[in-house]
Amino acid sequence: MEGNKIDSHTVLYGVIGDPVRHSKSPIMMNRAFRETGINGVYTAFHIQDESLRDFIAGVRAMGIRGVNVTIPHKLRVMELLDEIDEGARVIGAVNTIVNDNGRLIGYNTDGIGYVRSLKEEAAPNLSGKKITVIGAGGAARGIIYALLGESPAGISIVNRTVERAEELASSFAGGAVRLDAASNDRLEELCGDADIVINTTSVGMFPNVEESPVPGEWLKPGAVASDLIYNPLQTAFLKGAEARGCTAHGGLGMFIYQGAYAFEYWTGQSAPAAAMREEVLAALR
Ligand code: ATR
Repeated sequence: MEGNKIDSHTVLYGVIGDPVRHSKSPIMMNRAFRETGINGVYTAFHIQDESLRDFIAGVRAMGIRGVNVTIPHKLRVMELLDEIDEGARVIGAVNTIVNDNGRLIGYNTDGIGYVRSLKEEAAPNLSGKKITVIGAGGAARGIIYALLGESPAGISIVNRTVERAEELASSFAGGAVRLDAASNDRLEELCGDADIVINTTSVGMFPNVEESPVPGEWLKPGAVASDLIYNPLQTAFLKGAEARGCTAHGGLGMFIYQGAYAFEYWTGQSAPAAAMREEVLAALR
């Protein structure tokens, strides 16, 4: 396939983070540009805290069209933008910036990317489903925001530190979906009862690949087990779930679709998600 043709019309994009050199976003997004014939180039910028403000001024000055934001800038970048989309405001973090003719708008595509991946790869219809979310950090907050829009029967948030689960549940209270919080004491009961169990903690992430937040036997056979982790692609949690007769859904799709939404916001075109996944998978293997 022809490479990106870089010329005087090429539009600039990139990801900022600290660290950032491990990021697979550049290979994924450049593949998306090649695939769609868009004249864009996407790179990684290692930006430390003290340079964030200057970077954003640079985005304005150079007309960088789109930026992905990763750790540790997702919160602090918000005050430097002109507008924050409602979802990003509720989640309290921005992972995507659109430069709309000099007006910088912040979005969060992590939660909606996760839900799109879950629906396309494992559970097409979330309506009426009982969901258990393990963990109550930033990642849990983003996906719960997006899950609430799918009308599940209820979401139980289970966390080692129960106060964080309670805080998260109460911050979304008052909607149509039943939300409750529990400590790990009730993990077995709430996993056994759920149609979908989602691990948002880092338990099982490389290098602790033998660890699992829940043994497979605690799951209801036929349920969906979903892990936000994609290193490894197949976590101990997912292996245990498959052995129990559950459908396993790994975290790679969330990464692909958070990028797909960003691509769509920037370009107005639908993202070539299959090609993006192929590119990232090849880089991970
Ligand atoms: P993220 O943005 O990735 O969600 P975070 O905000 O630090 O990161 O949240 C991490 C989540 O994983 C928390 O729910 C944390 O539980 P606590 O609130 O009790 O700290 C959970 N977590 C991390 N390591 C864990 C472990 N070894 N066992 C159980 N839960 C763990």
